[in-house]
Amino acid sequence: MIRFITAILLKKLNSTPKGEAKVKELKTPIWEFFCLFLNFINIPQKGNQGLMLEGKNIILGVCGSIAAYKSALLVRLLVKAGANVQVLMTPDATSFITPLTLSTLSKKPVLVDYYKNETGEWNNHVELGLWADMLIIAPATANTLAKMANGLCDNLLIAVYLSAKCPVYFAPAMDLDMWLHPATRQNVTRLQSFGNTLIAPGNGELASGLYGEGRLAEPEEILDFLSSAVKKKLPLANQKIMVTAGPTYEAIDPVRFIGNHSSGKMGFAIADELAKMGADVILISGPTAQVSSQQSVKRIDVTSAAEMLDACLTHYKDAKACIMSAAVADYTPATIAQQKIKKKDASLNIELKATTDILKTLGEQKAEWQILVGFALETNDEETNAITKLQKKNLDFIVLNSLNDAGAGFKKDTNKITIIDRDLQKTTFELKSKDAVAHDICLKVAQLING
Ligand code: CTP
Repeated sequence: MIRFITAILLKKLNSTPKGEAKVKELKTPIWEFFCLFLNFINIPQKGNQGLMLEGKNIILGVCGSIAAYKSALLVRLLVKAGANVQVLMTPDATSFITPLTLSTLSKKPVLVDYYKNETGEWNNHVELGLWADMLIIAPATANTLAKMANGLCDNLLIAVYLSAKCPVYFAPAMDLDMWLHPATRQNVTRLQSFGNTLIAPGNGELASGLYGEGRLAEPEEILDFLSSAVKKKLPLANQKIMVTAGPTYEAIDPVRFIGNHSSGKMGFAIADELAKMGADVILISGPTAQVSSQQSVKRIDVTSAAEMLDACLTHYKDAKACIMSAAVADYTPATIAQQKIKKKDASLNIELKATTDILKTLGEQKAEWQILVGFALETNDEETNAITKLQKKNLDFIVLNSLNDAGAGFKKDTNKITIIDRDLQKTTFELKSKDAVAHDICLKVAQLING
């Protein structure tokens, strides 16, 4: 509903032929209230929007264009995606939308000038340029593009642009003829030759009433563009990787089960690390209290070894890699009692049957292009047992941890591993946090994928 109202309000602004007058009109408290209101509402995000922007330091440069009103929504979306947003405005931009609106939404003072006259305090453009993980100029006017292309440094935004070491994105907004003018075309080409990235303007009705190219890309498109740009640079971008984690519970009767002490910590840390490296992660998890820190991880909850097998077989076919860290039960009750088993005799025998070895099954189906990784938790003859599993299950490498190592094993926050690969090359790591161990394992997977 909120999105609907927002869309209608923004559409109304877009579609008016007297757009400029309309913005002036909306720069009344109603417009300010609307922007403040945006700050308190929950804007649901579609798909993967903005997922890669969490924790990123982003400078948003806003220029003097009628499209500056869209920067309010863009700031809100960036903040919602977990980015730290610093807004810089050109002096002209403040005629279209006030710094108060953008500072409220970004939760940081907006910077316009090099210094404050009253105190002599100055805004360090070099520090700002170094702080930023990305600089986005949206809307970028013909004037600002010309200044950027020629190094004409007459405001704080251009000084930061010239100092920035991070990737720069610019989303132009201007009238059709200005956009098509050879001077603007040349400036855009020049900026691209500097390595700056164009977020192309859209087609449609422009503030002048003309139709054509020149409308600022929609805030959601800009968010998506930035998120994809970050993701593309990651070592596991768009690779589907399946991970299993946690224990399995094998039912004895409606109230009892056979389980184990696995907490799922290691598998969840691996899934999170893979997602941070850009992978599309499917996490198949047994019963656990763990939660993933990465929104993009797709979690499938299962209970028994049989359910885990089904889920694995469904997702294995097109997975580039699988990391099987779950502590899967090797045996399950031959029959599950329909009613609670009553206490009768001094002893109780439960007949168990073997479960399917999921990893071995996947190893038998493994294609040339797939990478399969297993775990071995051992108490004795550690390396010999791990090598037997590596070969029997057709793995690319196995992660060995021994219960004899202090700090390794179930429920701990640390782990100590040895990686043994197909050529029986061994790499032993020191005791580390499970997050750091996950990083080592995922790096090895990335090396195998990227060669
Ligand atoms: N595994 C599996 N399915 C099973 C049992 C194990 O996928 N039914 C996987 C685990 O996820 C792990 C690897 O196989 O990646 C080794 O598991 P582990 O329990 O150490 O070895 P097992 O093959 O079960 O042998 P054992 O219990 O005798 O050591």
